[in-house]
Amino acid sequence: MVDGTEGMDTGGVDYGYLRELVFGHSHNVLDPSRDYLFETRLSRLLRNQGMTRLDELVRHLRARKDLALEQSIAEAMTINETSFFRDRRPFDLLRAELLPKLIEARRSTRTLSFWSAACSTGQEAYSLAMLLLEHFPELAGWRLSIEGVDICAEAIERAQAGRYHRFEINRGLPALFVVRYFDHAGEDWTIKPEARSLCHFRQANLCGPVFPFSRAGDRFDVILLRNVMLYFGRETRRTLLAKVHRVLAPDGILFLGSTEQPVDPALWTATLAGGACYFMRRMPS
Ligand SMILES: C[S@@+](CC[C@H](N)C(=O)[O-])C[C@H]1O[C@@H](n2cnc3c(N)ncnc32)[C@H](O)[C@@H]1O
Repeated sequence: MVDGTEGMDTGGVDYGYLRELVFGHSHNVLDPSRDYLFETRLSRLLRNQGMTRLDELVRHLRARKDLALEQSIAEAMTINETSFFRDRRPFDLLRAELLPKLIEARRSTRTLSFWSAACSTGQEAYSLAMLLLEHFPELAGWRLSIEGVDICAEAIERAQAGRYHRFEINRGLPALFVVRYFDHAGEDWTIKPEARSLCHFRQANLCGPVFPFSRAGDRFDVILLRNVMLYFGRETRRTLLAKVHRVLAPDGILFLGSTEQPVDPALWTATLAGGACYFMRRMPS
């Protein structure tokens, strides 16, 4: 149950049912004050289903289980807001302080792994790729990988394409990076293979029964889990962060969104530097 209005019929549409459905798939908790968003965000899906109204959709779903349709509804309700070098400070801190230390620590393995969890349309992952290429030429010949994971299939398709509109490029991307790392065609800019080849994207649910990285060797040096936990409830955040803790290297770095905090501070050491806060694993004593 996500709030106290489940089952309540509001203006002919059972929004409680839709909120519950979204929670069941993505664990996103939608506030009833934002029920109006269903109308706009599901309009294309309704059209594709040959429907015109939300109450038709609810009736249809109640009549027979349609997992694919439910999944599409949950995905359509995600907020995919992102930009290149969003909230610059974590990237500045990585460049100036954290990556030089990690690089020193990985000299023998020459491997660095990054995870952009909830990567949306890919700008966060590509920002990391450009940062590495631009400021750390000594990493040439290292095994570098940047994994991007998001629940929204459409966002992942866009991330994989690496093609952005002029408006998206104009948000936060230094001109030098635009010229160096993108090819230009009309209103669109496509990330060049050099940065593209470092990034791998796939659709996965951070809160599903199977965690996206659960093989024995899955280990990351830097994890960006930013601006997604605000959509989750406390228990979901706790469970997710315990799993993230397990796949972060002992000297690895976790960044959350600037307004987000770990639920269980006993698991993490927080450090404030350069106006950004990062977290490291606190090991059980
Ligand atoms: C606001 S965007 C944040 C993007 C990026 N991390 C940033 O800070 O710019 C939130 C993203 O979280 C994704 N998301 C929401 N619930 C998710 C879940 N359960 N599993 C994976 N991704 C999820 C959404 O699809 C959306 O793309």
